Amino acid sequence: MKLGVYYYPEQWPRKQWDRDVKNIASMGFQFTHYAEFAWTFMEPEEGKFEFGWLDEAVDLAAKNGLKVIMCTPSAAPPIWLTEKYPETLIQNVDGLVQQHGSREHCSWSSMKYRALNEKIILEMAKRYGNDKRIWGWQIDNEPSHYSVEDYSAVARARFIEWLKVKYTNIDKLNETWGTSFWSIRYQNFEQIRIPNSNEIPQQANPHAMLDFRRFNAAECADFISFQAKILKQKVSKDQWVTTNFMGQHIPNDPFLNKDLDFVTFTSYPVAGYAVGFGENGYRVNSPSFNGFPHDYFRSIKGTTAIMELQPGQVNWGKYNPQPLPGAVRLWLYQAFGQGSAFVCAYRYRQPLFGGEQYHYGMTTPDGVTPSPGAKEYIQTIKEIAELKAKFKPAKEYPAQLTLSKTAILYNRDNIWETNYQRQSYQWNAQFHITKYYDALRSLQVPVDFIEENADFSKYSFLIVPAYQLVDEALVAKLQKFAEKGGQLIITCRFAQKDKNAHLWEAQFQAPLKKLAGVNVRFFDMLPEDRYGKVAYQGKNYEWNNWAEILDNEPGTNTIATYFDQYYKTSSAISQKKSGKGSVTYIGVETDAFKLEKSVIKDIYEKALSRPLEELPDGLDINYRDGLWVATNFHSSENRKVSLSPKAKILLGEVDLKPCGVLVWTE
Ligand code: GAL
Repeated sequence: MKLGVYYYPEQWPRKQWDRDVKNIASMGFQFTHYAEFAWTFMEPEEGKFEFGWLDEAVDLAAKNGLKVIMCTPSAAPPIWLTEKYPETLIQNVDGLVQQHGSREHCSWSSMKYRALNEKIILEMAKRYGNDKRIWGWQIDNEPSHYSVEDYSAVARARFIEWLKVKYTNIDKLNETWGTSFWSIRYQNFEQIRIPNSNEIPQQANPHAMLDFRRFNAAECADFISFQAKILKQKVSKDQWVTTNFMGQHIPNDPFLNKDLDFVTFTSYPVAGYAVGFGENGYRVNSPSFNGFPHDYFRSIKGTTAIMELQPGQVNWGKYNPQPLPGAVRLWLYQAFGQGSAFVCAYRYRQPLFGGEQYHYGMTTPDGVTPSPGAKEYIQTIKEIAELKAKFKPAKEYPAQLTLSKTAILYNRDNIWETNYQRQSYQWNAQFHITKYYDALRSLQVPVDFIEENADFSKYSFLIVPAYQLVDEALVAKLQKFAEKGGQLIITCRFAQKDKNAHLWEAQFQAPLKKLAGVNVRFFDMLPEDRYGKVAYQGKNYEWNNWAEILDNEPGTNTIATYFDQYYKTSSAISQKKSGKGSVTYIGVETDAFKLEKSVIKDIYEKALSRPLEELPDGLDINYRDGLWVATNFHSSENRKVSLSPKAKILLGEVDLKPCGVLVWTE
């Protein structure tokens, strides 16, 4: 795993560059990252290019033994661009045109903006595309418009074009959008506006909304792809091309970006949102919340990397606590254990001006003193080099990991759809999925995220969480998976609707009858201060988020039962044999997730015929190239790792202190 750091030469006096770049190298970093927000310096006037300064910065990096990640500057267009071509600006939900003065204010849908991007990217590719000092390319930065949805005229026009391609005629759109409801019916495509909850009295049509979300994701991917194609045509095959999505936030649909070499993400574990474990959990985050993006983004192309990692305190969070001493090193080791190809620290210098003044870097504001985070980087870089010297990665992937490898079926439509029509303010689709991921992680089960067209037969276990929109082909594929010996675990809200988000003209969740041997009588939800109970294996568990009341078909067994409410004794979780495998339907979602975790553990232990060790809160164990890496995310308690007698410790101690790291081989 290579380590690097962002440097913005254009933000610092020329006379400091030599010192700064030299210091970056002396900290042990192997690469740096340039040009991300530097459009105005590379093209100060339209068509007038100035790369002399960047050439010098690349020379300096090379002189100090650093490779360079070059970045296309589309996230920060120059003032002349938007002044001359205001039609390139995005417009927010209130109709306000977003102006120059920050970043990400130009529209993916604007062909003018794309053409201007093409010019600067071609110039950059011409200059650096065959330069061996350039390691690879990042496109844009966190493409997302930071959650501002684009209501500009160009976005609307492209949305209409997208709808025309999808529906070919307006009748088909009317039918799919159910526009006979409330007389919404359209006479032609040109009448359609982007659904906007601020310009209508009540919630927008859910089908229009779903299509808009799909369009928006496709448009973002199309913009990235447009840049990728230009680069791919011009740059050497040795240089890779990627982008960086916001890790924990996952806007849009990163799975649409298949023409990149791999997809990276940005990671900010501590910014006032994390809960974590122990008194100071908010200073550390948790293994699964922090680890989720890694598995998710790796699943897209088989490899991933952290393009930005928090260096210490940041400035933009809900509140911005100091990370616990040791947390930066802990995150680095988790990334290492999870197989990250590289980690790039964000950023080298703490800015003295601009919007991120309170954001730590690798140096304090004086520009030379290493920050606390830098010290953790320096230590980790040394340790990883020592590990590399001691170790030859030749081992096979451990059988226990291969056998339990699990796929989670994932598709953004279900998240958009269930979150738009939540039915309870406590519903959160992303949390629902993350809880299952967390259960698997604490059982040390490796996870891939897959799409419907994936080869399910590569896995023995498949989890299908809150997968609301299905078609017959998917249901048949799932059934085949179980019949051939797979353990299929399906969770609530499955198959409520078809792919157009229409209910079936049948019983609720009708496809479940054949697939899982259950019928959903109805579903229920409670206020957050009231709890219902579910009994499983002699224990009671509390729920209040979501409950489906199940009736079994013959041959299906109830494994967990509602213990109160007027539907007491009805099934909450049912299970049946299906060919050589099994199907379990979990109709309930709890907050604590202990119930679901126990059910999962029992299914896995039975199928694998061995007990699974459940890791205590905060302890995380990963495997990479023959190395086992344990990290303790618990902020106030030690965690002991039980090692086999064959284990050979390469780094750390078995009794892990908070933020402690242990690396061993077997
Ligand atoms: C990221 C962004 C960076 C920088 C950083 C500060 O989300 O990509 O450009 O703003 O946050 O933490």
